[in-house]
Amino acid sequence: MFAPIVRRTPQSRTNPPGPGFTHLRYPVPSVMLIVTIDGPSGTGKSTVSKAAATAMSLPYLDTGAFYRAATLAVIRSQVDPSDAASVLSVVSEATFDQRDGITYLDGEEVSEEIRTDRITRAVSEVSAYPVVRQRLVELQRSWVDQVGGSAVVEGRDIGSVVFPAAQVKVYLDARPEVRAARRAAQAGEDPTETSVDLLRRDQADSTRSASPLIVPSGAHVIDTSDLTFEEVVDTVVRLVDSKS
Ligand code: DC
Repeated sequence: MFAPIVRRTPQSRTNPPGPGFTHLRYPVPSVMLIVTIDGPSGTGKSTVSKAAATAMSLPYLDTGAFYRAATLAVIRSQVDPSDAASVLSVVSEATFDQRDGITYLDGEEVSEEIRTDRITRAVSEVSAYPVVRQRLVELQRSWVDQVGGSAVVEGRDIGSVVFPAAQVKVYLDARPEVRAARRAAQAGEDPTETSVDLLRRDQADSTRSASPLIVPSGAHVIDTSDLTFEEVVDTVVRLVDSKS
C-alpha cells in the first residue's frame, strides 16, 4: 500500500455549502488531482482504475457506463438508433448518475442491464454521435466538480477531450489476443467470437470522427499484456506519486 498521494487538511474535509448539497460523500483534497485512464477494451482498464482510485483515496468515474446507459435509454425508447435527432432527444431528456460504482438511468439502477450483449453491440453507434458526446462530456465534468474536483476518470477520450489538462494521463494497452482472451474469460465466452466483437468495437471507437480513441498527448502508455493486475495498479499509483 502506498502513502496517500493527496494530503488533506482537516478544514478541507468539508465541501463549501452549495445548492442541493446537504452532506459530503467524498473528502475534498487540498490540491485538485485528475488522473485519466484511457484505452481499448480488455486492457483491465476498469479494474485497474477502480483499484488505483481506492489506493489513492480518490473518487472513481467510469464514463463508459454513461455511454452504455445512454444506449439503454435509446433502446428502451424504441427510436431508430440511426436517427441522430431522435437519439439526441432521448439522451437529452434522460438523467444519468453514478454513485458508489452504481450507474443510474432516470434514477433507476441499471448497472447490470448496461453490461448485456444487446447494449455492448449498440453502444459504439450511439456513442459516435457528437451531440451525445457533448451532453455526456458536460455531465462527466460536472460529476467531477461535484465530488470536489479530484478523481480517477476512465474512458476512451478522457485525456484527449474531457480533461486535456489532467495532471496524470495513462493509456492502457495490450496485444489483441490478450485482450480477447481476458474479455472471453470474464464473460465465459469463446475467445474467437469475443475477438471478432472486440476488434469490431475497437475499430468503430478508433475511427469515428468525434473524439476517437487515441493515445492522448502527454499520456504514459502501459502495455498490460505481460503484467499482473497488481503490477499495473502499482505502476499507475507510482506514476501519480512521482507527479505530486
Ligand atoms: O468502457 P466500456 O466498454 O464500458 O465502454 C463502452 C463504450 O462506450 C465503448 O465501446 C466506447 C464508448 N465510450 C466512449 O466513446 N467514450 C468514453 N469516454 C467511454 C466509453
